[in-house]
Amino acid sequence: MIPRPDGELRPRTGLPDVELLIDVAAAEGAGLDAAIVVSRAEGSVADVRQDEFDEARRETVRYHQAVYADGGAGALPGWWARPHRLVLDGREHVDGPVHVYDLGAGTGRHALWLAEHLPPDCRVTAVDLLPEALDQVSASATQAGTADRIDTVVADVEDYEFPHTDAGFVVAFSVLEHLSSPAAVSALLARCRAATRPGGIHVIAVFADRQEITGHGVRRAPVECPLTAQQARSLLRAAYRDWDILQENCSDSAVPETRHGQKYQLRSTLVALIARSPSRATATDH
Ligand SMILES: C[S@@+](CC[C@H](N)C(=O)[O-])C[C@H]1O[C@@H](n2cnc3c(N)ncnc32)[C@H](O)[C@@H]1O
Repeated sequence: MIPRPDGELRPRTGLPDVELLIDVAAAEGAGLDAAIVVSRAEGSVADVRQDEFDEARRETVRYHQAVYADGGAGALPGWWARPHRLVLDGREHVDGPVHVYDLGAGTGRHALWLAEHLPPDCRVTAVDLLPEALDQVSASATQAGTADRIDTVVADVEDYEFPHTDAGFVVAFSVLEHLSSPAAVSALLARCRAATRPGGIHVIAVFADRQEITGHGVRRAPVECPLTAQQARSLLRAAYRDWDILQENCSDSAVPETRHGQKYQLRSTLVALIARSPSRATATDH
């Protein structure tokens, strides 16, 4: 876990409307981490206080445990039970057997679908913070007859080390915003890239600009790393600057949710990309 300062939260500066232009190559040439350059330039969401992080993490755990206790993917809202279009699109770029890593897999809408829709000798590793989510992945895989293809790992992805450099397909869908800082996001993406075989596919999606619309107004959604769409896009572009970008997405999202029995609409910007690793590994990637 990357340490966060315990002191005062620095006030967020106004974010520019135009996309921030960052000369990543120049920043790295000067020995700077691109993620830190992004976060400093855009108002320092990296400086989340420890107590704010702890509170957001408690709420992430409480919220997901409550959702998963309701009976698994079948009982979840439709959008959460079906694989997202981006994962379906990413799968189109995979030819042979691959090792899939689904980070923050939840109850496995992507892991389970990929285990069924990739060649039978593929392997799927589903990683999540919550054992109750992964228990449901295992139960659904047994029901679907794909249990022999799916492993589950209970872990905080912020500390997750890939066991091998054999990843052929990596999914990180709505999990990066639950890390402790943009620098932690950047570090995880670097580990994902380093663990990926030449030609491997990544499907990365971040829900940024998160707001909850209730009958009483608008509030900022509790999340560990509250990225703006600009920050998320800059982070992803910096991470995948040497890869083929097969698809890039920045679109509005609005889904109904319930917290503490109160219904609200979660509005956000889905910032996502599908990227393919260079066929021949380069020195900067590995
Ligand atoms: C919004 S759900 C998304 C689940 C799944 N990726 C999907 O698209 O259906 C976020 C999931 O990430 C998990 N999660 C949150 N923070 C995590 C972390 N630091 N490490 C591992 N999993 C985490 C939660 O437990 C939850 O299951």
